[in-house]
Amino acid sequence: MLKLVLASDHGGFELKEIIKKYLAELGGYAVNDLGTHSAEAVDYPAYGRRAAEAVASGQAERGIIFCGTGTGISIAANKTAGIRAANCTSVYLAEMSRRHNDANILALGGRSVEPELAKKIVKIWLDTPFEGGRHARRVEQIG
Ligand code: RB5
Repeated sequence: MLKLVLASDHGGFELKEIIKKYLAELGGYAVNDLGTHSAEAVDYPAYGRRAAEAVASGQAERGIIFCGTGTGISIAANKTAGIRAANCTSVYLAEMSRRHNDANILALGGRSVEPELAKKIVKIWLDTPFEGGRHARRVEQIG
């Protein structure tokens, strides 16, 4: 079972709940929801960091994080060493973030990506392997 963490602020809360349900329907994922747990306003950096630290420490293999746009929380997550968080607004971006960048965190915007598209993005992001090869050299250079 792939170990996954989810985290969001209030702007991404609703989409996080939708994706959590979707992951349960798909099956095969051990999902740990690091919050937030309501639509009450909270600050996204703490949640981005929480998810990033869980992935960087190996507690989870991958993470999916959410804020209003996906931007703030991805910037926050990317401050943790070893994290490659990609804010994706299309299936193509999600696929390439795995194939070429070995993204270990997917960021989504609850106010910028419709739920049905978000599900497609999540599915391809989870299913797509890293290509390695010349891309591995470049990813290593980021580290
Ligand atoms: C919160 O209003 C909003 O700024 C936040 O969810 C996110 O979009 C920041 O990048």
